[in-house]
Order: sequence, then structure tokens, then C-alpha cells
Amino acid sequence: MPSDDQTNPAAVLSSSENGEEVENNALGPLDPTQLKIIFIGVVAALAGLMSGLDIGVVAGALEFFGKRYQASTFELEWVVSAMMAGAAVGAVCAGWMSHHLGRKKSLFIGAAIFVIGTLGCALCWSVSSMIAFRVIMGLAVGLSAFTAPLYLSEIASADSRGAMVSTYQLMVTVGIFIAFLSDTFFAYTGNWRAMFGVAAIPAVLFLIGIIFLPYSPRWLIMQGRHKEARGILLDLRDDPLEAAKEIHAIKEQLETKQEGWKLFKQNSNFRRSVALGIMLQAMQQLAGINIVMYYAPKILSTAHFDTQSQMWCTAMIGMINMLATFVAVGLVDRWGRRPILFTGFTVMAVGMACLALLLHSGMKSEESQLAAVFMLMIFCAGFAMSAGPLMWVLCAEIQPLAGRDFGIALSTLTNWLTNLLVGVSFLSLMKGLGTDGTFWLFAALNAGFIVLTYLFVPETKGATLDRIEKNLMNGTRLRDIGR
Ligand code: BGC
Repeated sequence: MPSDDQTNPAAVLSSSENGEEVENNALGPLDPTQLKIIFIGVVAALAGLMSGLDIGVVAGALEFFGKRYQASTFELEWVVSAMMAGAAVGAVCAGWMSHHLGRKKSLFIGAAIFVIGTLGCALCWSVSSMIAFRVIMGLAVGLSAFTAPLYLSEIASADSRGAMVSTYQLMVTVGIFIAFLSDTFFAYTGNWRAMFGVAAIPAVLFLIGIIFLPYSPRWLIMQGRHKEARGILLDLRDDPLEAAKEIHAIKEQLETKQEGWKLFKQNSNFRRSVALGIMLQAMQQLAGINIVMYYAPKILSTAHFDTQSQMWCTAMIGMINMLATFVAVGLVDRWGRRPILFTGFTVMAVGMACLALLLHSGMKSEESQLAAVFMLMIFCAGFAMSAGPLMWVLCAEIQPLAGRDFGIALSTLTNWLTNLLVGVSFLSLMKGLGTDGTFWLFAALNAGFIVLTYLFVPETKGATLDRIEKNLMNGTRLRDIGR
């Protein structure tokens, strides 16, 4: 389990530590300090890009790989899902590693594993070797998905923190989109090895870039290396007063000891927020986004698309996913969490139900094929503007300070495990329930999530983390803890 030092990377998407909104005023001419920060942001955000590439690449590569090795449905499901199993393990190790080895070394190890994993998948010699390298790739994804946002939130100044961390989330969707595009390009020759191998280029750049990154000042302070921390903060902030204030704030925060497991055993109110975090991440995954991310070409093939059209449509779906995430980042603090989730789950339920109806009709005309792609896009847009980024934000907001690391660790683990469940069962579901039956199932799940949102999800927009904690701990019902 992650250790006692983690800040709350997703929460800083929308809030500063004390829950006040922070404005991003990064416009205007750039000075050398800002350039340094941008360099750091770009390097660390490459971790997001790498994760996105690894999530997206399998969609296009699966069919060609399957044909080459005559893989069964079961084997293909594991080629897809081995990555999530690796990511779950990586996420569990990440807390320990980023505490004991530090953020920079953890990122470096993550980048090295990315290089090994991508090259291994490109050069694999059998189904089982591919599955093994996908697990390795997943380790890197789980490790980086935890460490990079954490590092970014610790390096950024208060007024650029939201932007830095949301850049990471956006880079994941950019990575998925680029993977879909490169899959499309290599699909003309069926070169699945190149689809995997090409990701080694950003992986190597990432690895080299990390060498030039400074240590996280917060981690240095945790290690008692105050002088070094001060030096780095002076370099990054260019303002001794600002640097001194930040060091003081970090020391104060570190005084709250993390005692998640103890609190979990003793306090039923904390158990409620842990359960809520687990429910939120399970809802995110069971909404079905990753059946589209991993299997879009497969779904489109059941709608009688030829290989090239499958790939181009998948690339367009990736683009919508990316663009809608941009929209979400702007909406989160204006609309509030509940209205966005109601809208998102309704859009997803309708998208899945329409798709099921279309598939049931046999997809004989070109119009119905176009309508199917459109529905997949609507579904992805619904996810990317709501449950995609929002569940990460909410999960970080609802946990009390003393149990935050424990609560976030469990909800993150749930995310990877339910992701695994969906990935590993989708093709079998399609065989068992039929394609339209499978989409009806996801439509029903999304409809159910509207009800769960109504019953349990709090509106945390504008609420300080302190207020949320007080309400939770005095037994206020979950959906009211943001009031
Ligand atoms: C989810 C991932 C998903 C991605 C798609 C994230 O919020 O956790 O499982 O692949 O969004 O953009």
C-alpha cells in the first residue's frame, strides 16, 4: 500500500490544499524560471503520453497479432488485460517506491520499464511472451500513473498546479489518440510489431528527460534534506519569500500522520468514504469506456466495417475522447460534480442503448453503420466530459486527511481491477450474450449509475476539503458531505 507521504494529485485538478479555487494565470511572456517549469511539466507529462500509448495501442494491434499466432478469444482477452494486472501491481508498489526511493528515481524506473515493455511487445515470439511483456508494460503504467501526477503537483507553484496536473490527464488521452493514429497508419501493412515498437521513441526521450529533472522538494523535506529542498524551490520560484512559505506549508502538512488502516478499523464514517471511493472507481470502469478503448475495431467489425474503416473510425473516436477531456477540465468547477455525472451517465446509457438497437437491426445499410460510429463517439464524449476525469477528482476530495493515502490507494486499485474485469470478459460476453446483448448490459449499468449518483455522490464543488471531512466524520449522509 502507498505510504504516508502522498499528497492528493487528483484533488489539485480543481482545488488547492485548503480547498480554495486557484486561478491559472500562466499567460504573458515567459521568463527562464517559467521555461524550467514548462520543461519539467513536459517531461513528467510524457509519462501520461506513454500510459495513453500503451492503453491505445492494443486496439489496432489485436487483430493482426491474433492472426499471426492463431490466438483464441481467451488468449486475446489476456493480451489486452495483462496490462491492467501489471498496472494494479505497479500502483500498489508505487506508493512505497515514491516514498523510499523518491519520485525522480521511481519515474526513472518507470521509464526504463516502459522501454523494456514496449520493445518486448514489439519483438515477442509467442502469445505467452506477449502477455508477459504486457504485464511489464502495465507495471510501468501503474507506477507512472501514480508517480507523475504526484511529482507534478509537488513541483508546481500553487497557481500553476491545477494546469500541471490536468495536463497529465490530458496527455493520457493524447497518447490514446496518437496510438490509434499510428495503429491506423501501420494497419495498411498489418505491421503490429511497429504499432508496439514505435512507442519506444517517446519512452527513450522520457527516460533521458528524467535525468535532468530536479528532486521533488516535498520528498527532500520528508528525508530531512531541507537545504537541497530550499535550493530547488529557490530555483523554481525565483522568490525567496515564496520558497520559505512553501517549505513552511509542506512541514505543516507533513505533521498530519497517515493512519489509514487504523482509522479504517476504528471509524465507520471513514469506512463510508472508502466504500464511496471504491464505488466511484468501479462505476467509472463498469460504464464500459475501455471496451471502446481496447476493442473499438473489433466492435466495428461486427458492424461490418472493413479493416481500414475500422481503424479510421477508431482514430476519430480517440480524437473525440481527447477533445471532450479538454471540455471537462473547464466544466468541473463551473457545473459541479453531480450535474456533470447525471449528464454523462445519461449520455452513455443512451449511446449504448442506441448501439444495441442498431446492432440488433443487423446493420445492413451504410446509414446504420455511420449511426453506430456516431453512437460510439457520443458514448466516449459522455465519458470523457464526466466520469473520466471526475472520478479521479472526487476520489481525492472525499477522504479525510489522516486516511487520504489509504482511501485513494484502495479506490485506485479498484479502478485497475475493474478495468481488468471488463477487459478480460468483453469478448466472452459478446460470445455469450451476443453483441447487442452486451451493449444492453452496459446501457443498463449506466442507467443504474444515474441512480447511484443520485443516492450517494456528494456535490463537492466549492466545498473546502476541511468542510467535507467535518461532515463525513459527524455522520452526515454521503450525498450531503459537500454542503
Ligand atoms: C480511465 C481509463 C481510460 C481513460 C480513457 C481514464 O479516466 O481511468 O481507464 O482508459 O480515462 O481516456
